[in-house]
Amino acid sequence: MEDTTKLNKSKLGTKQYWDDFYSVERKNFVDNPEDTGECWFDDNGAEDRMVNFMVENLTKFNNEESSVIDLGTGNGHLLFELVENDFEAQMLGVDYSVESVRFATEIAKEKDYDVKFAQADIFDPKWSPGQFDVVLDKGTLDAIALSGLTVGGNNQPVVEVYSTVIEKILKSNGIFLITSCNFTQEELIEIITKGELEVWETIKYPVFEFGGIKGSTICSVAFIKK
Ligand SMILES: C[S@@+](CC[C@H](N)C(=O)[O-])C[C@H]1O[C@@H](n2cnc3c(N)ncnc32)[C@H](O)[C@@H]1O
Repeated sequence: MEDTTKLNKSKLGTKQYWDDFYSVERKNFVDNPEDTGECWFDDNGAEDRMVNFMVENLTKFNNEESSVIDLGTGNGHLLFELVENDFEAQMLGVDYSVESVRFATEIAKEKDYDVKFAQADIFDPKWSPGQFDVVLDKGTLDAIALSGLTVGGNNQPVVEVYSTVIEKILKSNGIFLITSCNFTQEELIEIITKGELEVWETIKYPVFEFGGIKGSTICSVAFIKK
């Protein structure tokens, strides 16, 4: 089987690509305030499934004392949908693209959403945002896997250190919810459960069958930090 943790490099893995992407989306938003940009994995209803999952299963974090961080937040839409669905935790979206952060902040201001955004490269060892009850990722590890970047003195691939980033910013008994279309559920679990994180729940998607093999083009897994 192909080791997709070492996916080929792609322009989707560069900061320049995302700055250009969100710069265009910002311009579109200025022209039409109803155009809040692309919703990643919309075809699969991933965002709705993540939001419904949180509303139904993470009730203990649905209050103003709890905190949620969205890694690689893009246009911030996932957090805005949580607000729309009365999820009351404090919300922070981070992204290494300054254009993403500007765009999401502009949408929050225009639509009056109480959500904060900040620029951060999640692999920067100096990045220290504190700890959160819930950490979210929709498509960000997928983009990261396409960067081919390494970190640290021993040049570890970013995908290999990703789980340590989550462990650093997630509280004990906190939940990490991730959606990916680049990795199978099994691959995702292998990448994330190297240390303190365990599988907690999975979100179901329609399954296709081809040539006798069953599968799904997308997966969402919730992990708990023990
Ligand atoms: C596929 S997009 C997904 C955006 C958003 N989560 C969504 O669902 O629409 C990947 C995002 O990850 C961000 N990103 C990639 N590498 C990052 C890093 N090292 N630190 C922070 N953000 C990163 C990109 O700027 C981009 O906004």
